[in-house]
Amino acid sequence: MKLSYKIFKVKNLKSKRKLVCLTAYSKPIAKILDRYCDIILVGDSVATAFYGMKSTKEIKLDTMIEHSISVKKSVRKSTLVFDMPYNTYRNTKEAKKNAIKVFKKSHCDAVKLESNGKNFNILKSLVKSGIPVMGHIGYTPQYKGKFKPQGLNKKQQKKLINEAIKIEKAGAFSIVLECINSDTAKKITESVNIPTIGIGSSSACDGQILVVDDLIGLSGFYPKFVKKYVNLEKILDNVLKRFRRDVIRSKFPLRSNTY
Ligand code: KIV
Repeated sequence: MKLSYKIFKVKNLKSKRKLVCLTAYSKPIAKILDRYCDIILVGDSVATAFYGMKSTKEIKLDTMIEHSISVKKSVRKSTLVFDMPYNTYRNTKEAKKNAIKVFKKSHCDAVKLESNGKNFNILKSLVKSGIPVMGHIGYTPQYKGKFKPQGLNKKQQKKLINEAIKIEKAGAFSIVLECINSDTAKKITESVNIPTIGIGSSSACDGQILVVDDLIGLSGFYPKFVKKYVNLEKILDNVLKRFRRDVIRSKFPLRSNTY
């Protein structure tokens, strides 16, 4: 299958330089991200980070398509990946139908599937029909219960390495490694020829991804793998305090703000 230029570029970055990846759910944020990211993911984390849902499993395909349409309006150079939500790729037929709908409506470049350790054929069938796929292993919230770091012992390590190799063989162009022990992440990265994108999986990965709301301090969710680069909540709090004061003291609007 002929790879699109954007997918080729991502694959080619392995061992050249680290890949920079973030999630986005809207046009204004994506506009800034597009300047710095190799990959922008419309993640199912929109469920918890944006809608305040209890689990990513609650988000609907159509809701995510609307977010992807918004994000796409700003994306020029980054590779836009759509995260297939829970129960939208349970078999080949369902996966193809939904992925084609996603492509037609949002014009993304690829989709991401979480691995349940069994769905390699579904991934393969999408790739065969021309849809680029990113894999996702380790802590996969759609299939796992309570949060737990993964790949902590030799048995788990071997299982994850095999899973990554099967995903590569099925045709994925990259794999997210979520909350995987650093030694295991390193061994997986060395075992596959496609880029590994880590979240909570150490600098041994070929690239890094974070949920943008965590990075900018808007989500209130700061596990140890997140680096909060700015506390936007605090900055906005200050701004809104000033706005409230100005309105109450009739300092806003001024004549210059008036017709
Ligand atoms: O939905 C998401 O944001 C993700 C990342 C954690 C990779 O899948």
